[in-house]
Amino acid sequence: MNSTFTAETLRSVLSTTLLGRRIEIHPQVGSTNDLIREAGRRGEPEGLVIAAEEQLAGRGRRGRAWTAPSGCCILCSVLLRPRFSAQYAFYLTIAASLAIRRAIYTLRPQTSDLSPAIKWPNDILLGGKKVAGVLCESELAGSDWAFAVVGFGINVNLTREQLGELRAIATSLSAEYLVEIDRASLLAGVLNELENLYLALQRGDFGAVFEEWAAAIETIGKHVVVREGSEELTGDALWVDADGALVVRLESGEERRVLAGDVTLSQP
Ligand code: BTN
Repeated sequence: MNSTFTAETLRSVLSTTLLGRRIEIHPQVGSTNDLIREAGRRGEPEGLVIAAEEQLAGRGRRGRAWTAPSGCCILCSVLLRPRFSAQYAFYLTIAASLAIRRAIYTLRPQTSDLSPAIKWPNDILLGGKKVAGVLCESELAGSDWAFAVVGFGINVNLTREQLGELRAIATSLSAEYLVEIDRASLLAGVLNELENLYLALQRGDFGAVFEEWAAAIETIGKHVVVREGSEELTGDALWVDADGALVVRLESGEERRVLAGDVTLSQP
């Protein structure tokens, strides 16, 4: 049912110079993030892309599992060796979220008015439901980067049945756009966009990347519940600051910066 997804088909639609200099696509792995981490430790140059048809130990944010049926999604990680300060690690997550958003926007059927949005900090939503997520992991040498792993999962050609109980909160591109999406073209789109955004960061152009991300966050201006550890905060999401923190005005009037957490929209 799903179109061919090989390193050759991906390379034939890729227009990058850095990302995808080497590409591996495996039928089954533990986690593509773990494979990239091992490659980083072996000293592989940046730009290595590893994707898989299936992961047996896929990982999501906050220690969660990331599961996807075999052969119909994008499960991919990229090895990067940033030159900018590791203090700006969050910008890799921003860049990956934006790259996915841009690529989905470009590939969507022109007849559809459904556009992807970002839910703070790094979920990509379609029609209000999660369609993709990003997991960036850094390995440091002292206070500097050794390397970074940029991992992302996109629900591409998953049927509503395959989504099962998750259907209330998650979706796939094919379920929303009602067409099968060519995974090689979509992944090439993400890598093309990610390279552009990464090179902008390498040049120190953080402002433009931040502005695009801040403008794409649909959470801003909404009444939200934020779960951070065991704490639950309710209030209005005001803006994101330069560290990527979400600033929330609590019902008491106090403004709180939230650096990591799960956000859901709530009724005021
Ligand atoms: C999230 O929790 O939203 C992030 C999900 C990230 C999943 C991807 S799939 C490819 C890569 N390998 C992993 O083990 N995780 C990431």
